Amino acid sequence: MTVHFIGAGPGAADLITLRGRDLIASCPVCLYAGSLVPEALLQHCPADARIINTASMSLDEIIAEIKSAHDSGHDIARLHSGDLSVWSAMGEQLRRLRALDIPYDVTPGVPAFAAAAAALGAELTLPGVAQSLILTRTSGRASSMPDGETLENFAKTGATLAIHLSVHVLEKVISELTPHYGGDCPVAIVWRATWPDQRVIKATLETLEDATGGERGRTALILVGRAIGAEEFDESCLYAGDYDRRYRPVGTDPRFPEGTE
Ligand SMILES: C[S@@+](CC[C@H](N)C(=O)[O-])C[C@H]1O[C@@H](n2cnc3c(N)ncnc32)[C@H](O)[C@@H]1O
Repeated sequence: MTVHFIGAGPGAADLITLRGRDLIASCPVCLYAGSLVPEALLQHCPADARIINTASMSLDEIIAEIKSAHDSGHDIARLHSGDLSVWSAMGEQLRRLRALDIPYDVTPGVPAFAAAAAALGAELTLPGVAQSLILTRTSGRASSMPDGETLENFAKTGATLAIHLSVHVLEKVISELTPHYGGDCPVAIVWRATWPDQRVIKATLETLEDATGGERGRTALILVGRAIGAEEFDESCLYAGDYDRRYRPVGTDPRFPEGTE
């Protein structure tokens, strides 16, 4: 048997990969992180599947469930919100599974930052404005930040920031970023991107606090940077008519003549 870790996407039930959906349908056991995974995804489980919400379970209890299914020869679908590569607690589960010699694989999902950018209709890496995106968070009760991973340090780069798990400390975020990005820097908050009650506000660092009207509901992403809503930016060379490239050789002496590898 195999434990299939599956990125369940940001909220909308149709934002899961076909592979993820099919794996859910093939597994007699499904463990899902109920705080953020949409229950509608569970409709893909077989009718008689054992379905367990792990929101209130400890790591020991989760691993015990997995081990018990493994001992019975059952495949398991393990659902976490968004993608599994960030803030999914997958790492500690995989380490336990390796120690127990239980096989697993990982199917990616649509991360919240991508869903939030889509809600804004925004490219977060605009030529000449920002070419890096930093996925970060502020410290929480359960997780401190490693030295050096401060908002101030990231702000010094001027990159676009996608700040997770932090809307409840919005004032602190604003005060740490403003000296670096400037009060007129565009910001957006997207609450519950792709859920039916999605909410978006766009503001600047200076106007953000008022613009929220005091709303601090936790499932939200704060996006900060000059690329948010920018209209003044370069066009990419890639699609410029006179740019010689492998897939569109141009000029009398192209660098990549047709027919070359
Ligand atoms: C534990 S992390 C999970 C991140 C997830 N693994 C991902 O790939 O995006 C939860 C945080 O992600 C952000 N988040 C998750 N889903 C979201 C959504 N639909 N809309 C906005 N932010 C979301 C929020 O900052 C939330 O506090």
